Amino acid sequence: MSQLVQVIRDRITHSPQNKISFAEFMDLALYHPDLGYYSGGNVEIGAGGDFFTSVSLGADLGDLLAVQFAQMWECLSQPQPFILLEMGAGLGDLALDILKAVEGRYPVFYSRLEYWIVEESPALIRRQKEVLKGYPVQWKTWSEIEDNSMVGCCFANELVDAFPVHQVRVEDGELKEVYVTETEAGLTEITGELSTPQLAQYFQEMGVDLLAPDYAKPYQTEVNLAAISWLETVAKKLQKGYLITIDYGYSATRYYNRERSRGTLQCYYQHRRHNNPYINLGQQDITAHVNFTALQHYGQQYGLETLGQTKQAMFLMALGLGEKLNALSSGQFGVEQILQRRDALHQLMDPTGLGGFETLIQGKGLKETEATQPLQGLTVPLF
Ligand SMILES: C[S@@+](CC[C@H](N)C(=O)[O-])C[C@H]1O[C@@H](n2cnc3c(N)ncnc32)[C@H](O)[C@@H]1O
Repeated sequence: MSQLVQVIRDRITHSPQNKISFAEFMDLALYHPDLGYYSGGNVEIGAGGDFFTSVSLGADLGDLLAVQFAQMWECLSQPQPFILLEMGAGLGDLALDILKAVEGRYPVFYSRLEYWIVEESPALIRRQKEVLKGYPVQWKTWSEIEDNSMVGCCFANELVDAFPVHQVRVEDGELKEVYVTETEAGLTEITGELSTPQLAQYFQEMGVDLLAPDYAKPYQTEVNLAAISWLETVAKKLQKGYLITIDYGYSATRYYNRERSRGTLQCYYQHRRHNNPYINLGQQDITAHVNFTALQHYGQQYGLETLGQTKQAMFLMALGLGEKLNALSSGQFGVEQILQRRDALHQLMDPTGLGGFETLIQGKGLKETEATQPLQGLTVPLF
């Protein structure tokens, strides 16, 4: 039995009712300080790892995001410092791509920039420090950032899908929560009363009634309460500026569609996708899609106004992805490089893959003239 399984069993045994919420289980599986998938150093992102992100395809995402950040800096009348806060920075490659792009193309902006990272995993912080050696990056915890102090842009690529989620199930006409307990068969799911009234309240706020007669039965889904606390924290720290969230997800209506009866929970192990979170513990990623209606709704409650939401394909096209494709025909690249670059750019805008990801931009503390200034990444209309 792995050490992590033992830790989870101990946690269950020491819990009052011999069970832990699925969210607590997922938190241990991913973020136990020594043994969790992200914290324990087993996480591998990219071709040789368990999953890949837009960042794994090369420098294009960072390069294009730099265009958006530079425009945001202009929109805010070139503040100094302009803080770029990356949350969940993975291997550190996106930070490197952004810093290189800004340094090369926007030297004045670069001189006004402070790049901060908030990262949960100590093992990944070590890797980020290696990759970003020589660049003026600061690693922060939320408690080290004063409330209402930051002017700039907070952003995250594929962070929110990695937060631990609660699982709920409709059973006998009631909304129940999924817990994890230990039986002779090993870690086993059972259902019980909701561990927090926030779960029922969430569905009320989303205008979703899972108990409605036309819902598939059985019906199980997830609630990302951690995303709501995260939004509250970001809003509290940001005095003035933006939040960009890029991730895979749906509106609440699509997320809690009556036919989506098994939720969106997925596990990734060596590029194989499956839906059993109880195997490969500490060795595999566990994720759930993001409810973007919830990000907009709760963001608004904390003072983060939605400035726009689009697909990653449109966002990157608006920032210059098309020009990058055109440049491949300029005669300055070899065939192999053209094929590799074209493939990467196509993947970034593939509507059935990374291009179909959502990009949400929220703003806080902006003057009317700043809030109404069209952000470049939002200028290509969705078809
Ligand atoms: C799926 S990876 C994405 C990494 C990177 N952004 C990319 O696109 O390649 C999720 C990242 O978020 C980090 N993370 C998870 N929960 C976090 C939290 N509460 N605060 C900060 N970072 C977190 C993980 O350790 C990891 O670096």
